[in-house]
Amino acid sequence: MKRNVALIGFMGVGKTTIGEALASRLKKRFVRTDDLIVELAKRPIPQIFREGGESRFRELEMEVVKQVSEEDNVVIDCGGGVVLNRVNIQRLRNKAKIVLLTASPETILRRVKNDSSERPLLNVPNQLERIKELLAARESSYKESADFEVDTSYLDKNEAADRISHMLRGNCPSGSQKP
Ligand code: S3P
Repeated sequence: MKRNVALIGFMGVGKTTIGEALASRLKKRFVRTDDLIVELAKRPIPQIFREGGESRFRELEMEVVKQVSEEDNVVIDCGGGVVLNRVNIQRLRNKAKIVLLTASPETILRRVKNDSSERPLLNVPNQLERIKELLAARESSYKESADFEVDTSYLDKNEAADRISHMLRGNCPSGSQKP
């Protein structure tokens, strides 16, 4: 049985807050790929993007996903672009159920504005437009990668964590489960 849970989805869908609540409920360790990247690179994410561009960030992301995919009993909060490299998902899938969190572009915008994390890809004048573009470009990769999907737009972190733990136990009261 797969003992890890990987949360994927766009920036601002709630991977961190829901992931922490889920990990404590399931008594698993919580890890964020973004934190591991910062540790590995010894510099913050905006600096990684400034100095090495998105491609350097993706290399580091691939390295930490490889490491974290081999751990046991963890809830993994994957950065929003993890699906851009198929090998990341193949590695995560070995030991993890993959849960896609979604939210509307407007909800995402509100959440990222209220959050202190700096997200270089959203550092543009028209953030809503950028969110919609990136979502459209990534949508099929998110959907293809996921075992389950939960729309977090109208859920608080505890409701979302409840729903995910139900799904992981094999129940599917709401949200959607792929055949
Ligand atoms: C990114 C999402 C961010 C972070 C980086 C790139 C993306 O993580 O990895 O800024 O490409 O969607 P969060 O999804 O945790 O915000």
